[in-house]
Amino acid sequence: MTDLTTMYLGLRLRTPLIASASPLTGRIDTLIELVEAGASAVVLPSLFEEEVEAEAWRLHHLLDTHTDSFAEASGFFPDFDFGDSGVHGHVKLLGAAKDAVHVPVIASVNGVTPGGWTRYAETLADAGADAIELNLYAVAADAHRSGVQVEEDYLKVIELVRSRVDVPLAVKLSPFFSATAHFARRAATAGADAVVLFNRFYQPDIDLSTREVRPKIELSQPAELRLPLRWLAIIRAQLPGVGLAATTGVHSGFDAAKAILAGADAVMMASVLLRHGPRYLARIESELEAWLIQQDFQTVGQARGSVSRPGTADPTAYERANYLRTLASYPRPTR
Ligand SMILES: Cc1cc2nc3c(=O)[nH]c(=O)nc-3n(C[C@H](O)[C@H](O)[C@H](O)COP(=O)(O)O)c2cc1C
Repeated sequence: MTDLTTMYLGLRLRTPLIASASPLTGRIDTLIELVEAGASAVVLPSLFEEEVEAEAWRLHHLLDTHTDSFAEASGFFPDFDFGDSGVHGHVKLLGAAKDAVHVPVIASVNGVTPGGWTRYAETLADAGADAIELNLYAVAADAHRSGVQVEEDYLKVIELVRSRVDVPLAVKLSPFFSATAHFARRAATAGADAVVLFNRFYQPDIDLSTREVRPKIELSQPAELRLPLRWLAIIRAQLPGVGLAATTGVHSGFDAAKAILAGADAVMMASVLLRHGPRYLARIESELEAWLIQQDFQTVGQARGSVSRPGTADPTAYERANYLRTLASYPRPTR
């Protein structure tokens, strides 16, 4: 028997395989299927600050509409069903998830203002989240704001949330930091227990017939794993006490094995499970276990980081020195 257990965010997990935030973790039926198929933890869809604003706007509208006809309009609030939107919906989902599954439930927040980040992280921690993931997803579009300023804002958010929340804290990063390793270290110093590498940025497309900008979401491809793989390998030994999770491009147990070899404590998946269904996770676990056995690893811990930058025979393989060799490795055209 291979020991697949791993520690992530101070939580002992049965395996490193986690269902990352996606519509599958936003419904109780699919959440249960994911856990039955082997998910050792689940990350719920992010609570976006914009959703809360929409909820507040609807409440305002509701009270406004009834103010004329009922003296104590605010009395309606407790009875009003906000369904699955906003803070209410996320707290409801978290409670239902905690009741339905017996694996750690990680809640995710994507804020806009410092107050929003802290308020919603605190609300979800108070509602029973086993950990909080801060989904640092913002496009640095202001030509007057430097990378340093953007990073300082993120770090303030991490510090603020850390000061208000006792549960473990992860930060999910974009791949577009100019000095990723440095920012990951500063995020840990600011209070993050783990970093999740990397969120996928969805690029808008242009509809040529209507000339409108259209949001477009496409599921990932396995080749996209190489970006997190490189950074996991580079960061692993530099941040020994910090949890590392891989996300983007993990589509099989073999991909998960690569992420672990590079240094991941946990491996998160969304696209592959959306494409093949939650039950596919059981196959991914079997592949990972079979590979570990075939390579004579008794535990996941033995494999972890063994091909990280200092672990590998050629540390330059993850860096610039390998650029020329990579270009030269493309087969010469035969003509
Ligand atoms: C439809 C969809 C919804 C997602 N929603 C969230 C979300 O709410 N919060 C978040 O942090 N990531 C979200 N993600 C990103 C995934 O959690 C994951 O990090 C990303 O898709 C890369 O992993 P993958 O290659 O396994 O898909 C979403 C992804 C998809 C495809």
